[in-house]
Amino acid sequence: MRAVLLGPPGAGKGTQAVKLVEKYGVPQISTGDIFRANIKEGTELGKKAQEYTNSGRLVPDELVVELVKDRLMQDDCKNGYLLDGFPRTIFQAEELDKFLAEQGQKLDAVINFDIEGEVLIERLTGRRLCKDCGASYHIKFSPPKKEGVCDRCGGALEQRKDDTRETATDRLKVYEESTAPLIGYYSKTGALKNFDADQDKDVVFAEIVAEIGE
Ligand code: AP5
Ligand code: MG
Ligand code: ZN
Repeated sequence: MRAVLLGPPGAGKGTQAVKLVEKYGVPQISTGDIFRANIKEGTELGKKAQEYTNSGRLVPDELVVELVKDRLMQDDCKNGYLLDGFPRTIFQAEELDKFLAEQGQKLDAVINFDIEGEVLIERLTGRRLCKDCGASYHIKFSPPKKEGVCDRCGGALEQRKDDTRETATDRLKVYEESTAPLIGYYSKTGALKNFDADQDKDVVFAEIVAEIGE
């Protein structure tokens, strides 16, 4: 399965990706995760991306597109992948289309997470991530058993730099301006599937599976 997860910050793309990876056995390609890993390791890419990710602005297209194409050429993507956070601009979507055409492939689904407003800010500001294994929690909606400690590995939980109210608000604006136009773009190709993402995460997951198939 080749699918794109499309939706605003906090919509639940990463949360659903973890469940979809387990179900369909294809890798999650999260450009946000790739940038954060590079920033942590202090790579050249990380140094270039940092000022953008920390302030909630988009990393320039030319830094993103080649990175994703290289990733999609790797062996584990042979049978499909879930793109999480890419494409995020019309230019990126066009470049992805060109790449897919070159490979003789197409997208099976664009899974659009339909949700907006204050609930997104609440999800983002309450998110906590394990610094050792990356597991994701929410202080209210999916709290760990022990505050500040990962259930899975005992690691400390931390907040993403861009999960402040101020930067989250800016990210939502960037989404509206640059990424929301992709809904129109993909509705023309017939690949777009809309899901109400303002529901319990297990309900959202069940609806996606019902649409995509077992
Ligand atoms: P990225 O990491 O992609 O961030 P984002 O789009 O802002 O999305 P999030 O990861 O914040 O939200 P999510 O939808 O994954 O939500 P989650 O499942 O965690 O990008 C970060 C930055 O990198 C960008 O700002 C940009 O600078 C750069 N970048 C990345 N890709 C780029 C690209 N293609 N081009 C240019 N720049 C790029 O859920 C959020 C919280 O809500 C969690 O705590 C979760 O537990 C909770 N939650 C989830 N689902 C539910 C539910 N159903 N009910 C209740 N709580 C829920
Ligand atoms: Mg995410
Ligand atoms: Zn952990």
